[in-house]
Formats: sequence, structure tokens, C-alpha cells
Amino acid sequence: MALEVRPMWEGSFGAEISGFDMTRETGQEDWRRLVGASHTHGVIRLRGQKADPAALLRLASRFGTPVPHILTHFHVEGHSAVLKLSNIVTDGKQWGIYDGANYWHTDMAFEDPPGAATIVYALKTPRQGGATRVADMYAAYDELPDAMKKRIDGLVVLHHYGNRDDLDENSTGSASKLTDEQKKQVRNVFHRLVRPHPVAGRKALYGVSGSSFGIVGMPDDEAIDLLNELKAHATQERYVRELEYGPGDIAVWDTSCTLHAATPLAPVDSPDDPMARLLHRVSVKGRSPLFS
Ligand SMILES: [Fe+2]
Repeated sequence: MALEVRPMWEGSFGAEISGFDMTRETGQEDWRRLVGASHTHGVIRLRGQKADPAALLRLASRFGTPVPHILTHFHVEGHSAVLKLSNIVTDGKQWGIYDGANYWHTDMAFEDPPGAATIVYALKTPRQGGATRVADMYAAYDELPDAMKKRIDGLVVLHHYGNRDDLDENSTGSASKLTDEQKKQVRNVFHRLVRPHPVAGRKALYGVSGSSFGIVGMPDDEAIDLLNELKAHATQERYVRELEYGPGDIAVWDTSCTLHAATPLAPVDSPDDPMARLLHRVSVKGRSPLFS
């Protein structure tokens, strides 16, 4: 069956990939089309796959270099680059992160080099809800007034772990709580505000929400006002889509040209609860070896 790339929604944002089967050999040209689609369309989805953590890592490594996440306590055992996301809590123990990403953010923008893509594999999905909201940062940049484009081109943004809109680590709207050891590893990094996609070259607004805390050479209040203005622009309904998945689906969002936010789900006390969610997630950095 030939690999096909079709629009997932209206316009060029999002692509549905069909004719792909994780359990079969995929040729180099098809891999390039699949990974290239994530650079061009920002989000791709592959329905009905079978992926154990090792297979998921092999797929992820086509998009970049898988990296262990700072939240070491939610790694899949034996696979430090596979992170569990879940709303299941049994005997007081969380199965994965469930409260950390309900706000607009860019995965691993708080690192240097930053994340390149996030790959999610759905093992359990709730009967309803639980979609990831994704926003198109190519379109958000393209549609800025020329004066704003001029003002922000060349600006450099300070990022570190956290959500600038909610710094209370016990709040559900803040970034996931770090252990004291993890807090010691947090550092400041810098990324361009208008950042050309590392492979596709197209300009996108980068990291305007979440881990961005300041702009180099600009007073803090002015910088936050500007970041907030850009965030309000970039998360308008016309740039936002709901990325839904069922069990077996793999979704990839390219972090260079998207913002995303999880939809909150209430905790459940059993993996058999119809509202239970369990996802495996891999973040990659650097360039895809197919485009290096
Ligand atoms: Fe995220």
C-alpha cells in the first residue's frame, strides 16, 4: 500500500498519513515524505499502529535524536526517552504526567538545542475529550502586520523551565513540579522569536507562550507585554485545531512551527475506566537524519 499524505483539516496545517505500517519495512523515500510532511504541515497523524517502546523510539529517531525528559520519574522502565502521560492514579501513584501541560507551550523550548518534534503513541484514550490543541505558528507569523514583523525580527527570547503565566508549582496550570535535584538542572537558554524552521526554512513564531520569560535587551514589563500580545494573536481560534487520537494512533507535532496545549482530564482510579488515558511520548532534538 502506497504512502499517502492528505490534509487533516482545512488548509495546509495538519496531515493524515495513510499506507504506513510500523510492522513493515518502509523505504527511505517514504520516510522522507513522512518526516517532511511534519516539517511542512506542522502536525501529522498515523492511525492504527502497533508500537512497543523500542519500535516507537526507532520511529522517533527518524525525526531527530530522542532525548530523556527532565521528569525522570515518569520514564517507561528501561527507556529513558519514553515518557508516560496519563490521568490514571492507582493506590495514590500517578501512572504518568497528567497535570503539567494544559497551557500553551512548546515542548523543550527550555533547552538548547530545543526540541524538534514530539511523537505521541496512544495506548488508551478516553471515551470523550482528551484532544491536544495545536496552533499553527507558520500562519500566525505570516498574518502579523508588517510593522510587527519588522519589530520582532531578530529579537532573542529567554526561556527556562516553567509556565510564565502560572509559577505556582502546586497549581494545575503550572509546569509539572520538579524534584529538588531536577530544579538544580534548570538554566536559562535563548532562542529567536521569529525562528526559521531548521529544515523547511519557513519563518514561524517560536515559543511565545510557556517557557518564554523575557527578551534580550528589553525591559521585563515591555517584553512580557509583547510576548503576551503575540501569544493572544497566535492562539486565536483560526490558528487552532483539535488533534484527536484513538488507541494505536501516533501523532507527531513539529515543535519549530506549532504551539500546543493538552485538554485537562479528571484523574481516574483504574486503567479500565472508560475515561482513562495513557500515552507514550518521545521528544527529539536536532535534525532528522533524513534531512541532514
Ligand atoms: Fe507538551
